[in-house]
Amino acid sequence: MDDVTYARLQNQLQRKLGLDLTAYKPQQMRRRIGTFIQREAGGDVGAFLARLQNDHALLAATRDMLTINVTDFFRDGPQWDILARDVLPAVSRGKRGLSIWSAGCSRGQEALSLAIALDHAGVLLSSRILATDFDREVLAKAKAGGPYSQEEMRGVPAADRAKYFQETRAGMTAARRLLGQIRFAEVNLLRDPFEKNFDLIACRNVMIYFENHVKSELISRFRQALAPDGLLFIGSTEALLGDDLAGFQRVGGNFYRRVSEARREVA
Ligand SMILES: C[S@@+](CC[C@H](N)C(=O)[O-])C[C@H]1O[C@@H](n2cnc3c(N)ncnc32)[C@H](O)[C@@H]1O
Repeated sequence: MDDVTYARLQNQLQRKLGLDLTAYKPQQMRRRIGTFIQREAGGDVGAFLARLQNDHALLAATRDMLTINVTDFFRDGPQWDILARDVLPAVSRGKRGLSIWSAGCSRGQEALSLAIALDHAGVLLSSRILATDFDREVLAKAKAGGPYSQEEMRGVPAADRAKYFQETRAGMTAARRLLGQIRFAEVNLLRDPFEKNFDLIACRNVMIYFENHVKSELISRFRQALAPDGLLFIGSTEALLGDDLAGFQRVGGNFYRRVSEARREVA
């Protein structure tokens, strides 16, 4: 796809979907959009844009393709072991409950995994979890606690399935015990203000799609949204490097602790 065509698509998709595609890595985005238009309209960009005007199913499919909602319960298993073994005991020491944010929560699996981990640590009912995404459709499923198919449930151990989910005809639905501690909200990470004072922010497999300067700005805003000593939990293919590490200290796995500038200099 040439530059002019891509610019035209960016512009149209922004108008139709309110998505600022310039923040996302162009190569990946171009490839995704190109493959999609090939499949949906035989590669004819004009025909695709014309259909987009009043084909709601195509519009929804386009949004899904662009926002990349892939997720899983306890995604990257070993990180959840580190969370349970090291992170939660350390971060909850001396506190009654924790304030946690799942930023880019997709269909809710990450927030529910966090709630289960908090329950195992005995702090769920005194804690609060904020789960946000800018995609209304996935957020609606997250809010409803499912239903999740057997395939979607594969990361949940049998004992947790029995304890925290109910079987319905449509699939498994999360129990009130988990959902009651989670507040769901629509937040665009590139535009909306952030709440503050989180003990843990999980933003995983979201920043990989952003241009470097957008990612750096986001990391700095996450730092400001963390409580002193709060932790940022990122995806397994992501890392804080160079200037992005300023004001953070890696504490193991994909966890980075907010540190004051003074402590960072001593460390
Ligand atoms: C690949 S999923 C990751 C879900 C989950 N964090 C995980 O690791 O399994 C990325 C999510 O980020 C959301 N997202 C992408 N750009 C966003 C933005 N600018 N603001 C808020 N959410 C965004 C997408 O809608 C999608 O649900």
